[in-house]
Amino acid sequence: MRVDIITIFPEFFGVLDVSLLGRARRESLLDLRVHDLRDCTHDRHRTVDDTPYGGGAGMVMRPEPWGEAFDALLPEGEQHDAVVVFPSPAGVRFTQPLARELAQVPRLVFACGRYEGIDARVAQHIAGRARVLEVSLGDYVLNGGEVASMAMIEAIGRLVPGVVGNPESLVEESHEAGLLEHPSYTKPQVWRGLEVPEVLRSGNHGAIAAWRREQAIERTRRVRPDLLPPEAAEAR
Ligand code: ADE
Repeated sequence: MRVDIITIFPEFFGVLDVSLLGRARRESLLDLRVHDLRDCTHDRHRTVDDTPYGGGAGMVMRPEPWGEAFDALLPEGEQHDAVVVFPSPAGVRFTQPLARELAQVPRLVFACGRYEGIDARVAQHIAGRARVLEVSLGDYVLNGGEVASMAMIEAIGRLVPGVVGNPESLVEESHEAGLLEHPSYTKPQVWRGLEVPEVLRSGNHGAIAAWRREQAIERTRRVRPDLLPPEAAEAR
């Protein structure tokens, strides 16, 4: 999978060299390329923003540098098999199903806006060349799209075959079955007076699976009842 990131803070993405994604990059499972939007400016101050039409606080990113950056990555006149993601608190919610869907796409482009966002014509314009998605990490506001992109790239990247060594570990995670994950334990059996639940030490695989499922449902009902169908969320 190829992932391009357009940003005015390329240094944010240094962490993509670390851990699982770093290995995936070195092994060419993920081709991650970071582009500095300011390289697409032509004035002395490398200006990327301006005041909003209609007034209001804050600055909006001007369309011209974005146009140039996209022209280089997704040339005009072709339909590209790519998804362009604009991280934005005004976008659709990023979820595990969306991560799974995006993990199938051969090419992703993350367009990291800052300030009050990017001139709306940019997404409109690029929609003629590739699929465009405005995506929100959650109902809160970050200073820009960089941290949101990084979170999405990690969630998507680990679903690309080969990135996570043991693919079975992807199956039993939170959100894969529409539930939060059951609690996990390791050695020692007793730690500071707290004991590992006996069923997990029983060797009875059926009982262990049933206990884990029950715990997952109970935890989901307690912490995230919105994930359950209404009847299940209310049941006690
Ligand atoms: N940019 C600013 N806030 C954001 C959020 N909540 N999700 C995605 N991108 C953002």
